[in-house]
Amino acid sequence: MAEAFQSPRGFHDILADDSRRFRRVSATIRRILESHGFEEIVLPVVEFADLFQRSIGENTDIVQKEMFIFKDRKGRILALRPEGTAGAVRAYIQHRLWTQRPYHRLFYEGPMFRYERPQAGRYRQFHQIGAEVFGSESPAADAELILMTEKILKELSISAEIQINSIGCRKCRPLYRKALLEFLEGVSSNLCRDCIERKEKNPLRVLDCKVDSCQEAVANAPATVDFLCDECKDHYKILREYLRESKVKFVENPRLVRGLDYYTRTVFEAISKKQETAVIAGGRYDYLVEELGGPPTPALGFAVGVERLMAELGKEGDQRHLYLVIPLGDALAYALRIAESLRKRGEAVEISLRRGGLKKQLEFADRIGASYAVMVGEDELRGGYYTLKDLKTGEQKRIEFGSSEDEG
Ligand code: HAM
Repeated sequence: MAEAFQSPRGFHDILADDSRRFRRVSATIRRILESHGFEEIVLPVVEFADLFQRSIGENTDIVQKEMFIFKDRKGRILALRPEGTAGAVRAYIQHRLWTQRPYHRLFYEGPMFRYERPQAGRYRQFHQIGAEVFGSESPAADAELILMTEKILKELSISAEIQINSIGCRKCRPLYRKALLEFLEGVSSNLCRDCIERKEKNPLRVLDCKVDSCQEAVANAPATVDFLCDECKDHYKILREYLRESKVKFVENPRLVRGLDYYTRTVFEAISKKQETAVIAGGRYDYLVEELGGPPTPALGFAVGVERLMAELGKEGDQRHLYLVIPLGDALAYALRIAESLRKRGEAVEISLRRGGLKKQLEFADRIGASYAVMVGEDELRGGYYTLKDLKTGEQKRIEFGSSEDEG
C-alpha cells in the first residue's frame, strides 16, 4: 500500500460521534444567542493580513507568531482569520451598519486558524462562535454578555469560573502603563527573553506570559483597577452591581488583561476547572471601530471555543435517534415503503446495506448506535405489518403498517 496521507499537524477531523457533540454545543449556544436578539452574519475566512495587525496588535503573540499568512496571485498579503472580531468590525464599517439602526447584536460561527503549538484543547484550526454588540456603552451590555456566558456554561453543565476585570480607557491606561513599566524594570532580570522585548513595546502583554518565572515576577505588579479614571471606575462598579442583581457568579481577577490589544474597560474569561484554560473569553473594544476607519462606536463581545467546550462534555446526550430498517428475504420494496413513511413522520431512517442474517444485522444496528431496528421480512410483508425492536430495552412489538400506532 502507498504511504497514506495524514492531516497537517494541528488540523483535525471531527468524526461522526464528535460531530454530534459539536452540533449539540453549537445548537445550544445559537439558541441562547438568538434568545437575546443576536443575528447571524457569515464572514469570510480570509481577510487582508493588515486588518489583524491593526486590530489585534502588532506586538501580540497572535500577530507575531501565529498567523497563517500568504500572498495571492497578485501579491496581496492575506491571512486566514485567527479570530472573528476584526472581521466583524470590518464588515460593520464596510456595510455602514450604523446607518440601519442605533445598535447591533451580531454573531458568527466558523473555523479560526492560529499557528500555535498543538496540544490538548489547542489546535491550529479550531472553531469559535462569537457574539459582538456594536453601539452600546452601557455596562448593561457587558453584564448581559457575561450573563449569557454563564447561561452557556450552565446549559451544557460545564464547571468554569467567570473572571472579570477592567483595564481602563485612553485616559487612564497611560497612567497604568507607566506604573507597570516602572514595576517591570525592577523585576526585568526574572523575565523571559520575549517579555524583555514585550516590556518595551507592549508592557501589558507581560502580564499574560505563560512562562512560570514571568508569572512569579509579575505576581505583585500594580493592578489595572487601581488606576481607573472616574468614568471607568463607575462603569466597572455598575457592571458588578448588575451582575450581582442577576445573580451571576464571578470573581474579580486584577491580573486579567487578555492577549489581544483592542480591549478597553471590561475584560472577562470563563476558565475551565478541568482544562485550566479559557473556554469562553471576551470584553469591550470601544476604539476599534474608529481605529479601523468607522465612526466612534463603543463595542464589545465574546467568543466561545467550541472544541474546548466539547472537551468538557461527556458522551451522554449524543445518542442517535435512528431507525435501522432491516429488509429480510424478499421484502425490500415493502421495507422501502415503510422507511419512507417513517421519514414522513420526521424520523431519521436508514435502510441497512449490511448483508447477512438477523443476528448480524442487529449487531450492526448496535454498532451504529441506532435506537430502533425495524425488521421487515416476508411474514411482515404478507401480514402488512413490521416488527419494531427498541434496542435500548430489547422490547419488541408488531406494528400494523398504516395503523394509528404506525403513524405515531
Ligand atoms: P481569544 O481569547 O483569543 O479571543 O479566543 C477565544 C476562545 O477561543 C478561547 O477562550 C478559546 O476557548 C478558543 N481558542 C483560542 N485559541 C484556540 C486554539 N488554538 N485551539 C482551540 N481553541 C482556541 C478572541 O478570539 C476574541 N475575538 C474574543 C472576542 C470577541 N472578544 C470580543 N469579541
